Amino acid sequence: MLADKHILLIVGGGIAAFKSLDLVRRLREQGAKVTPVLTKAGAEFVTPLSLSALSASKVYQDLFDLTDEAEMGHIELSRAADLIVVAPATADLMAKMAGGLAGDLATTLLLATDKRVLIAPSMNVRMWEHPATQRNLSILKGDGILVVGPNEGDMACGEYGPGRMAEVPEIILAIDAAFADGPLKGKHVLVTSGPTHEPIDPVRYIANRSSGAQGTAIAKALAALGADVTFVTGPADVPPPSGVKAVQVQTAQEMLEAVMNAGTVDAAVFAAAVADWHVVNAGESKIKKDGAGLPELHFAENPDILATVSQMTKNRPKLVVGFAAETNDVIANATAKRARKQCDWIVANDVSPETGIMGGRENAVTLISDAGADSWPRMHKDAVAAKLAQRIAEALA
Ligand code: CTP
Repeated sequence: MLADKHILLIVGGGIAAFKSLDLVRRLREQGAKVTPVLTKAGAEFVTPLSLSALSASKVYQDLFDLTDEAEMGHIELSRAADLIVVAPATADLMAKMAGGLAGDLATTLLLATDKRVLIAPSMNVRMWEHPATQRNLSILKGDGILVVGPNEGDMACGEYGPGRMAEVPEIILAIDAAFADGPLKGKHVLVTSGPTHEPIDPVRYIANRSSGAQGTAIAKALAALGADVTFVTGPADVPPPSGVKAVQVQTAQEMLEAVMNAGTVDAAVFAAAVADWHVVNAGESKIKKDGAGLPELHFAENPDILATVSQMTKNRPKLVVGFAAETNDVIANATAKRARKQCDWIVANDVSPETGIMGGRENAVTLISDAGADSWPRMHKDAVAAKLAQRIAEALA
């Protein structure tokens, strides 16, 4: 199953490091090549000699080991593998990864790599449940890091709870899954995201408070399932995710043109907060306070991109998904919006200030489709994105 796959295995300093020895054996049994990297703390738990004997490879330990640099630079080492696995991933390693630190060989490789990374966290239950670790975990997930475990159970420290490293067969399954082609492979999906900026004159514009976080998370989740993603974004607070074709636009009109130029797509997700109007008499030069009174702005409606694509008679995507941010009668308003725009699904959410959803990290959405209204529990925006991407994969299967 893993024949010809090259895995760089980073062994962190935790009691579960002994399981990494078994992991090396099982991976090699499946035909994988394993290159171990042992952190200083990891070397307190397993010896370089046992790792080297089991992997039949040199064990890399020190960033400043000149012999290693002559043999293979750390950048090259981070790129040579097909997948990087961190097992055990301690609270300290996770924090360093989330913070982008590169103080030793393991963290430098993790920062320099362009390959996927799977972590198997392992730590005391209190450390796992600490808000700092949970914060780091969501940062890592947001960065596209794959996670397996931890499991709940008795811990070496005598406590009970989540924090035990996943068992070796589970880690192998997660590695298999990381190599499998995603369910959206070969599918082209379009995502719009962020606000639009509508000029008043060359220096001023009308905008809204959309950060682009939810649309970016959706594009990332779709790409993680193997989709070929065209990501059309207005000026958002967050950068476009890696691994997508990003098209940056300013205005609703430009967004419509970019969407129409994206070619044929299998599904389209309209997460952008498109301005409803633009200024028809926008100044060609900066509007001055010249004593002639206040400027008068005249508005015209912007094209409705979601409705335009939903109502296409030729080459309409098989699945068109819109969003509805509402403050009252959420389901009724969103259901009416779905009918009016003629999209297949609407993802509705309540953005009343008391929900804390707008600008927050969590979202509580209801998916409205032909099957009715399906309300999902409140969860992290990345988890909403992952669940939506999974549903899209099922719909396109
Ligand atoms: N949308 C779009 N183009 C527009 C306006 C909205 O593609 N010009 C899309 C959004 O990306 C979103 C959906 O339509 O998927 C709903 O946007 P929303 O602003 O909630 O709907 P409106 O049609 O503007 O309705 P209202 O403001 O009256 O609630």
